Amino acid sequence: MEIFLDTGLIDEIKEAAKWGFIDGVTTNPSLIAQTKRPQAEVIQEICSIIDGPISAEVNASDYEGMINEGDVLAKIHENITIKLPMTEDGIRACKYFSEKNVKTNITLIFSPNQALLAAKNGATYVSPFIGRLDDIGHDGMALIDEIRTIFDNYGYTTKILAASVRHSTHVRDAALVGADVATMPYGVVKKLFTHPLTDKGLAQFAADYKSSKK
Ligand code: G3P
Repeated sequence: MEIFLDTGLIDEIKEAAKWGFIDGVTTNPSLIAQTKRPQAEVIQEICSIIDGPISAEVNASDYEGMINEGDVLAKIHENITIKLPMTEDGIRACKYFSEKNVKTNITLIFSPNQALLAAKNGATYVSPFIGRLDDIGHDGMALIDEIRTIFDNYGYTTKILAASVRHSTHVRDAALVGADVATMPYGVVKKLFTHPLTDKGLAQFAADYKSSKK
């Protein structure tokens, strides 16, 4: 499973890049707003740090506006993935960019049928928001599982990008049900490294090493 970082913060991206396993970055208007910088400038800088798909979201809600914004964003770098909302206009725009061989990521997916429409119009990624479904008492991971079955039934190559990932269990379960990618905040990736028994074992090794030197 590929691991993307879900942030616009350059310091986090630079730190995470050192680990060697970050495959891409996703952003959205809320994450870009946190940077207090222009979107194009942030996206350009991210492309200079991570050599992988970088999702940049359009802010327009109408088809023409999405096309205009997406065309400008796509020119920033060949790794740009145009993130489009799961609306009628967003799905139309997905077709437009697919036909131009520009990568797309359909965001705010909350049902298998929404994912099916995105795949039919050639989306590169669909982003089911699992944490937000869990928040309202639904089962976010079941949605990933259902989309996996549908895509496999018909051979759709659209990648399932598990989004709104909130904790390590989401990451493990997304990998178990066959998500292609999970995008997550920096803090969630940091937690994937740790286990209390690893810490305990290391403390014991360090103590034994110290006593063997006496
Ligand atoms: O990738 C989508 C993500 O940014 C949304 O996460 O935690 O705001 O639901 P969250």
